[in-house]
This record gives sequence, structure tokens and C-alpha cells, in this order.
Amino acid sequence: MPGDKSISHRAALIAAIANGVSHINNYSTSADCAATLSCLEKLGVRIERHGHDITVHGIGRQGFSAPAGPLDCANSGTTMRLLAGILAVHDFVSTLTGDDSLRSRPMQRIIEPLEMMGARISSQEGRAPLLIRGGAALKPIDYELLTASAQVKSCILLAGLNAKGKTTVIENEITRDHTERMLRWFAAETETGKAAREPESARFAAVTGPAQLRARDVSVPGDISSAVYFIAAAALLSESALQIYDVGLNSTRVAFLDQLHSMGFEVTVTGEPEESDEPRGNIFVRSLRPDIKGPFRIDGTIIPQLIDELPLLAVIGSQIEGGIEIRDAKELRVKESDRIASTVAGLRSIGCEVKEFDDGLRVAGPTRLRGAKINPQGDHRIAMAFTVAALMAEGDSEIEGADCVAVSFPEFFDLLESVVR
Ligand code: S3P
Repeated sequence: MPGDKSISHRAALIAAIANGVSHINNYSTSADCAATLSCLEKLGVRIERHGHDITVHGIGRQGFSAPAGPLDCANSGTTMRLLAGILAVHDFVSTLTGDDSLRSRPMQRIIEPLEMMGARISSQEGRAPLLIRGGAALKPIDYELLTASAQVKSCILLAGLNAKGKTTVIENEITRDHTERMLRWFAAETETGKAAREPESARFAAVTGPAQLRARDVSVPGDISSAVYFIAAAALLSESALQIYDVGLNSTRVAFLDQLHSMGFEVTVTGEPEESDEPRGNIFVRSLRPDIKGPFRIDGTIIPQLIDELPLLAVIGSQIEGGIEIRDAKELRVKESDRIASTVAGLRSIGCEVKEFDDGLRVAGPTRLRGAKINPQGDHRIAMAFTVAALMAEGDSEIEGADCVAVSFPEFFDLLESVVR
């Protein structure tokens, strides 16, 4: 698998504001992570590319220079939200923009905490383009996330690097923790743990500023959120067996594997030594002909840890007796597309019986899928989830605008052709 997208963004952004030179190996090949690099270059950071490895010449915590024009984050919410946290500590005006999808996504969730810290931000009613005027002296805050979001948590922690004192983010539901790990790897003073409050899943992450980050080399594991399409295909297509090597196995990212396991699929994980403070290992999956019995329901505090895999789980649900119901997932409506609507529409077009809820969907199963024309609404994860569905369908399917997979996984179709007979 190509390098993990979430870890690559953080490695590049944090290396850019560290002191010294960092080498990042197996940097994600995604268009999203390319957008992060091009924004950093416009802010004066020197980056060398050597195949899948990059070298970042860090310029220090407040070392960015004012960009000549708007910073284009393309389709990447992670680029926009994390970079906003770093720009909030730079005393110049910068503009963050992106494609139509990104400009329609909610940004008030980062504007509010950054303004509490002292940055000034103007937006188009809470959406990009964002005009950010940072402040050299930000105030530390204690902030409880209103929406479970690793991007918002990360944005605040990155701004906190420059605030004098401790900035703490509390989350009621666990989200991916790569920023906390990467900051620790680059020698920032961080603390993480269970929050002394309800619910049981509540956690805190804190950073003490002003921080001096030291350059470090980073080895990026394979992207588990890209591996899942291969895992699902191998699990669902009869007589399949697939071994995937060197994938990130951070505990905040493996809920999809746990879910398949608890449903009765044969998925085996073997750990490898951790590198750059990120667990990794190998995954073996074999098809089981569904004596698997649902109905299954996925809801509650686990949802943020499955957020990118839910459309694929809905496709898997269509093949299981009793089907799947997914609830508490309203956040899907504000991803690269409205992923509840695009998943429901895709499932219906390949012959599934689906009920749409405001916060999720229920798909009946098992369903014999029939090939169809599917419009993924320009959303990479929808395109890949329905490619897996198309593999199981009778007849040909056409995924419109399928090159959108490059947003996270440009190699997707070539790699799939290499393993599917
Ligand atoms: C990401 C966090 C998730 C995820 C996105 C990448 C990240 O979003 O959907 O694809 O790298 O922080 P939120 O946790 O912000 O919902």
C-alpha cells in the first residue's frame, strides 16, 4: 500500500515548522498530500522529492513567509484545517481555498477555536475561502470538541504550539491520534490520556507552547484506509486470499478490521516493530462464504473511528444476511460528498433495498448486485467502495469520473487489476 495519507500530511506540515532537515520515507502518493506540499512551498518551505520519499527543510515554528497568492488545498480538508492552525500563528494575511467540494464544507468548527486563541479569520459564512490573519502571541485554550474530528483537534494543537502555556483539546469520542504522536516524535511537549469525565470514551490531548520542534526522519506505513477496499474485495469474492504488508495499525484506525472480525470474516493481523511512533504490521484476509448472519448495527462512539470506511461497510452489508444499519454518522453528510446520499444512491443503482436516515442508512442483504452506471459525485472513497460492489455484480458497471480515486489512491485501479483474476 502507498503511504498513509493522514500520517503523511502531518509529517510534512510538522517537519516544515521544525528546526532542521527531515526525510520522510513512503510519503503518500495522494493528490491531497501533494496539495499539502505545494501549499508549504508557497509559504517558503523547500521540499525535495525523490520518488516516494521527500526531504523537508524545516524553517521553524513561525518561519513561513507571506504567500504571493491564495493557497489551494484542492479537495483536501486535512490540508485546509491543519494548515489553518499553523497559519494562525503567522503575522500576515493568507487565503486558504480549494475545489467546489472543499469550499462547501464546514469551517466554522476551526474558525471558532482559532478566534478564541486570538487569530482573525474571515470566511464565506463559515466556508472557504478563509482569510487568516494570525497573531504572534496566541492564547492557550481548553477546548471541548463539539464534533468528533481529528482535523479540528489537530488544527487546535498545531496552533497551540505557539501559544504560551498549555492548550488542551477534549474529545468525547476517540478520533485518530496521528498529530499527537507526530508532535511527540518531533520533540514537542505533549500529554494525552483519558479525560476524567463521562462518557467513558472521553480523551484529552494537550501541547505546551511555545514549542521548539526538532527535525526527525519519518517512515510512513501503508495506508489502512486504502487497504480496506482490497480487504473487502478479498473477503467477499469467493476463493480469495490476500496478504497485505506493512500497513499502519494505529489503534484509532483499525476499527474496520475489528468490525469484520466480529462479523465472522477471516482477517488476521500480525504486528511488526513500531516505527516513527506508529504501529504497523501485515494483514491476511481470506474469503468466507457467508454463513455470516446479521443484521448488524454500527453506531455510537465507534463511528468516528470508522468514518472513512462506512460507505464500504454499507457495500459489505449488502452481501450479508440481514444487512447492516449505520447510525450516528451525520458527519458523513459533510465529507468530500454527502456520503449518506451518495452511498444510498449507489446502492440503489446496483439493486439494493436501502432506507436513508438523517444520520445513516440501512441496507438489506444479501442482495444479488447487478452492474450499473454509478455516479460517485467526484468522491474518491465512494468510487472505490462501488468498484468493490461492481466486482461482485452481475454484468458490467461504469464508475463515472473514476479518476477521482487519485485524491487518496492514484494506484487503485492498477493495483486492483494486478490481484483480481
Ligand atoms: C482525517 C480525519 C477524518 C477523515 C479524513 C482524514 C485526518 O476526518 O475523515 O479523511 O487526517 O485527520 P475528521 O476526523 O476530521 O472527521
